Amino acid sequence: MSSVSHVTPLILPSLLAANWSQVGNEVARAEAAGVKWLHLDVMDGAFVDNISFGPQMVQTVRKTTDMFLDVHLMIHRADHYLDRFIKAGADNITIHVEARYDSSVTETLRRIRAAGKQCGIALHPDTPFEVALPYVHDIDLLLVMTVVPGFGGQPFMEKETMPKLAAARDYREAHGLKYHLEVDGGIYTHTAPIAKKHGANLFVCGTSFFGQADAAQAHAELAAAVA
Ligand code: DX5
Ligand code: ZN
Repeated sequence: MSSVSHVTPLILPSLLAANWSQVGNEVARAEAAGVKWLHLDVMDGAFVDNISFGPQMVQTVRKTTDMFLDVHLMIHRADHYLDRFIKAGADNITIHVEARYDSSVTETLRRIRAAGKQCGIALHPDTPFEVALPYVHDIDLLLVMTVVPGFGGQPFMEKETMPKLAAARDYREAHGLKYHLEVDGGIYTHTAPIAKKHGANLFVCGTSFFGQADAAQAHAELAAAVA
């Protein structure tokens, strides 16, 4: 398990929303604001209709910070690329149940943990919680997407995703499991409390964090919204 208990609320800024011409400064201002986990959105242009960055960006960020790097792979064949993300310095690697694999989701999760990293499963808004059931005993976090993966700045999909989040929480408590519950997409000071009420403890914030001039203020406001 990670250094935080599964109920500790954390704000996870998403690098996708950062000013990429100033990546080093953006990472530094997140760390200075008190951020503990940084979210890195990897997109392949095939699993999602957008292309972001790959292992080299993870490695670049790794060299500049000790923050916990939460890598979200929105890609097909995550198992084919896995060793590169592990080597690049990812601390958690989350894979999508809906993606294609050369091997399998189970084998990919096993390899992530065998490398001493944490692992997560991500669910598209359309994917029911039941699809995650074969994996929930072997993950450190469940990522309930609250937007359609691929872009920042989209609206929070409350009715499509909150019942699923609550079901994941209830299943965890009923079965004595310990996975974190992470939400990702459209998380602002007014939507974060809704996700917290339904069980979230990790809150990915792209626009609501890096879209703000004052990172310390953004972090304080978002952290207060989920305290
Ligand atoms: C979308 C990404 C999210 C996104 C969040 O595919 O997984 O992490 O960057 O962006 P905001 O917070 O702007 O909705
Ligand atoms: Zn993400």
